[in-house]
Amino acid sequence: MSEILKVRDLNVKFNSRVGGVFGNTVTKEVLKGVSFDIKEGEILGLVGESGSGKSTIAKAVLSLVPYEGEVVMNNARASMVFQDPKGSLNPSKRVGWLLEEALYLSGEKDKEQRSKKAREMILTVGLKEEHLMRYPSELSGGQRQRVCIGLALIPGPRLLIADEPVSALDVTIQAQILELLKDLQQKLGLSILFISHDLRVVYNFCDRLIILKSGNIVEEGIPEQVYAHPVADYTKELLSSI
Ligand SMILES: Nc1ncnc2c1ncn2[C@@H]1O[C@H](COP(=O)(O)OP(=O)(O)O)[C@@H](O)[C@H]1O
Ligand SMILES: [Mg+2]
Repeated sequence: MSEILKVRDLNVKFNSRVGGVFGNTVTKEVLKGVSFDIKEGEILGLVGESGSGKSTIAKAVLSLVPYEGEVVMNNARASMVFQDPKGSLNPSKRVGWLLEEALYLSGEKDKEQRSKKAREMILTVGLKEEHLMRYPSELSGGQRQRVCIGLALIPGPRLLIADEPVSALDVTIQAQILELLKDLQQKLGLSILFISHDLRVVYNFCDRLIILKSGNIVEEGIPEQVYAHPVADYTKELLSSI
């Protein structure tokens, strides 16, 4: 298996002001030399507590924040799915319109083709054609997340970055979305970077996982091995809390 993504010595710093407008600027190192790979067709879990830098890794991979280090995408496109499907969908547009707009932005200039592909995509993510007529507010959280996944798939990514895609959903709905992602991964041969703060969620889902603490990777391995023989104290802590 070859790598679809190589990340080497990734460093991200943010400047923030403390003490108001006249306060000092402090530099906060959020990622401190993070390195990892994702292989073709692999689901890599990225786990860590809130504030550990998980979303920053996702953003750096997509060049949404300035970083130092190396991010090499092997001839591939990446798309992102976010935690909050409500916030990432325009509430004033119907689902069909949103999908067709994404198709337009991906280069589909033929109106009929857009409409046909939108209908195909809604089925691909496990919804029905009737959902195309709905506004985001007329869908459940799980259905909205399916729409977001459909939108992310439209540019034809080889790598899907899913940033806490199920954290806002009930447990039963979580399982359905995970099943959809696994399905898509197999059908489309996608690689997935699956971000979660919850080790339980990634256990059955990921081929391999990395654990992040305060901007450092403290553990890496296949789930069974990490659970049975955690190396880092932090991993032991995470395991004891579930
Ligand atoms: N644009 C930003 N400016 C300043 N600090 C930021 C910015 N984005 C994130 N941070 C800080 O970086 C740290 C890691 O954030 P994040 O990557 O969102 O963590 P996680 O996704 O693991 O919860 C947090 O302390 C957060 O406050
Ligand atoms: Mg986050």
